[in-house]
Amino acid sequence: MSTPSFKSIAPLTTDQINQFKRDGFLVLKGALDPELCRQARDEMWEVIQTHLPRMKRDDPSTWGPITEEENAKLQHRPEGGGDPYFSGNAHRFTVRNGASELLLNLAPRALWQVAEQLLGEGTVVWPAGLDESGYTTGPCFMCDDAVGGLNSHVGDTMGFPSEGTFTTEPALRLPETGPVWLNGQGTRGLYCTLPNSPSHAPEYRGAHSDGACYGRWRLQMSAYISDVPPNSGGFMVWPGSHSRIWPEQWKAFKEGEKHTDKHLAVRKAGGYTDPVIGEIKADTEPFDCHGPTGTAVLWHTKILHIAGQNASNDVIRQATIYGFKKTPESVPDALVVDNTDGDIWRDWSDAVRA
Ligand SMILES: [Fe+2]
Repeated sequence: MSTPSFKSIAPLTTDQINQFKRDGFLVLKGALDPELCRQARDEMWEVIQTHLPRMKRDDPSTWGPITEEENAKLQHRPEGGGDPYFSGNAHRFTVRNGASELLLNLAPRALWQVAEQLLGEGTVVWPAGLDESGYTTGPCFMCDDAVGGLNSHVGDTMGFPSEGTFTTEPALRLPETGPVWLNGQGTRGLYCTLPNSPSHAPEYRGAHSDGACYGRWRLQMSAYISDVPPNSGGFMVWPGSHSRIWPEQWKAFKEGEKHTDKHLAVRKAGGYTDPVIGEIKADTEPFDCHGPTGTAVLWHTKILHIAGQNASNDVIRQATIYGFKKTPESVPDALVVDNTDGDIWRDWSDAVRA
């Protein structure tokens, strides 16, 4: 942490911590630096001008969905592996600039003190970003989900195992546009939803809980680099669902169920069609986390969520997503795969546990 070029946001109040525990999420409206948000928007439009010039910044009528032909043209992995820097399909596009200093300063580092407040001082992996060689290095718990992500996002050139070892690789090295969220060194880049995207209601089939209950992520965030009005693609959550999915996933894991993206449709807990997900959808109204530029949503990693429908005509939902990870020193692998007492807040700070 040399000279910080980010502004830390204020610690949470006790009321906010209690709200986070109860609901599993917390919206911090306009909390992040507007100047860094402006820079990130400018950078996004430069990337669009390079890769998809038919979209014009000052003309929302050009912000139509990405065609199959455009999608195919954008599928080029950089040399050395990783996702295409810019890609998209239908109403979604992605810029893989998550390990850049700009994105790290804008959100994960600005929220760092809050993450430590919630997860415990000295127990969270610091997002250092890129080294001089343009790679990132950080710890990764190599479960099936993680190795699946490595192979799909990096390509098969780096020789990752095809099955999880369920141990932590302490210094996993990943290229700039690889899945740098897996070693805690970058955000997912910019995840954007174009206007007039289709509705998910009433079934919300794509709603899910991220990954497995085991692993090193506990706290995640979505940060908006532009205004996200109501019904414009904001992060949508089912309040309180974290504490219902958590025990069901642990139960399923102890019965031998391991989680991979491929199994989303047939999981017992945490996938698209699991019983607990059905119960939550039936009795809980989803909440649309809208907010002005710089709004950050913090959420418990197990909460049921979906990227909301963007029903606007002239707003592109522009968000970056990051998961704060517990260090191997603070949660050894033996505890990563064993939550014997079932306490959802076991690995959180005293302030949260109080
Ligand atoms: Fe997700």
